[in-house]
Amino acid sequence: MSRLLISLASLKGGVGKTTSAIHIAGHLSEKGRGGVAVVDRDRTRSATSWSRSGNLPFFVGTQDAAFKRADEFTTLVIDSRGGLENEELQEMAEASDFLLLPTNVEYMSLDAMAQTAEALGAMGNRAFGVLFTMARPGKRLDTARRVLEELGLPVLNATVRASEAFKDASEQSLLVRDVKTNKLAHKCWEDYGEVVQELFGRMEANA
Ligand SMILES: Nc1ncnc2c1ncn2[C@@H]1O[C@H](COP(=O)(O)OP(=O)(O)OP(=O)(O)O)[C@@H](O)[C@H]1O
Ligand SMILES: [Mg+2]
Repeated sequence: MSRLLISLASLKGGVGKTTSAIHIAGHLSEKGRGGVAVVDRDRTRSATSWSRSGNLPFFVGTQDAAFKRADEFTTLVIDSRGGLENEELQEMAEASDFLLLPTNVEYMSLDAMAQTAEALGAMGNRAFGVLFTMARPGKRLDTARRVLEELGLPVLNATVRASEAFKDASEQSLLVRDVKTNKLAHKCWEDYGEVVQELFGRMEANA
């Protein structure tokens, strides 16, 4: 199995990178991709703190820690800090099999996506895509999608719903799949299942 590298990035902070990295890694582990690692490249170490219970079914650690055990991993999911410089974003896109750009529908996030589109504009056909997180179906989401598509950004059809279940998951150091305090937690888990499925579809189309 060749090594797969999926990266999460955004210019704007707080848009769901860490939540997405953890749940994408969760689904990849469940699919039986052995040796999944989340590489925590944010110095706030949110992904590492999410894994504090030791109950996540994959490795979470710093880049140094992951490199030391590189032989064990076939899939790396990179969680980065918000507010990357354009060059860092471009480097990440170059290095990744897929660069996923989470965003919410707020004006400021969409404005940051416009800058992202500019930074990645020269990237040719590298595989990247925007993921709407914290999404509520409706006109605002439809408009946001149209705005980004008009900027030339590929937007995933799959979206991740807004739900407190994700906060419960991070507080309880669990995947949302295992959260018992929210009735819709399984739906939240399925949302990321669809994201992963679409990522694979898009990577295959690009190969
Ligand atoms: N789908 C969702 N619905 C509701 N809340 C969410 C969702 N996804 C993430 N959140 C919450 O939004 C906040 C930011 O999410 P997260 O930490 O994943 O973003 P981030 O992009 O990694 O942030 P940072 O830039 O600070 O690293 C957290 O409180 C998280 O629990
Ligand atoms: Mg984060």
